[in-house]
Amino acid sequence: MSAARPQGWQRLLLALGLQVGVATLWLSLLAQTSWALQSPLAVWLLAHGLVTAGLSHWWTREVWWSVFHVVVPWLVVLALQWQLPLYIYPLLAALLLLVFSPVLRDRVPFFLSSDQVGQALLDWMDHQASRRFIDLGCATGGLLVRLAKARPQLEFVGVETAFGPWLVAWLRAWRQPNLRVLRQNLWQTDLGPYDVVYCFLSPDPMARLADQFAAQAKPGACLVSNSFQVPGRVADQTLKISDWRDSVLWVYRAPLLKPPGLHQP
Ligand SMILES: C[S@@+](CC[C@H](N)C(=O)[O-])C[C@H]1O[C@@H](n2cnc3c(N)ncnc32)[C@H](O)[C@@H]1O
Repeated sequence: MSAARPQGWQRLLLALGLQVGVATLWLSLLAQTSWALQSPLAVWLLAHGLVTAGLSHWWTREVWWSVFHVVVPWLVVLALQWQLPLYIYPLLAALLLLVFSPVLRDRVPFFLSSDQVGQALLDWMDHQASRRFIDLGCATGGLLVRLAKARPQLEFVGVETAFGPWLVAWLRAWRQPNLRVLRQNLWQTDLGPYDVVYCFLSPDPMARLADQFAAQAKPGACLVSNSFQVPGRVADQTLKISDWRDSVLWVYRAPLLKPPGLHQP
């Protein structure tokens, strides 16, 4: 089943298809039956949400899309009641895409490392011979700005593909001489020059990223992954962080160790 699950933009199309398809079903029921008109609107919204969320869960197994389907009919009715101007809808869609497009492409959501993670990275780097640090998917650059201010003698780079977060990070880096923010895909980024490669992504890209790190990183460089482990590899160090989500930093040093009994590609 998992091989057939929709990927990337297919998930957005599926969500739109489900919303429009199931709404069309209800409308044809309304047109053909007399009892349908007697049910309160709330019942229809609930039924629509549950049916679309159920179908979405069956197809994608992704909780967030199910939540989307339950919530969206209520939002549509609210928007209709408020009689928002028509341009609001494409504007909202464009804003969401500016921030969340990587979620669709790489299955990497938008959330930020905590301040405690930033402090732990600073403490950890003080015991490493690290000079160059890169954040793969730096979002709005909060972590990088904090690190770059605290360690002006080190060099920091962030790459980000989503336009909105990249623009914010780029503006924040403007006055920080030891920080550069590039609008660049992490898969097109050469990891060779860096001593610390930091990421906070999702489980999905970790195996591919580990291969990229293994191929490009110089000996002794570290891949530090917030929360998500590299499948099939043993972390050289684990840093447990006392923040609201009990983050864990998994540290892998190049060359990557292979776990006993597993073949490395
Ligand atoms: C969970 S956020 C982490 C933000 C930041 N690194 C931090 O720790 O606070 C992941 C970020 O990675 C970005 N991203 C996802 N795929 C990417 C890719 N292929 N190349 C560059 N950035 C990507 C997303 O847009 C998102 O801003």
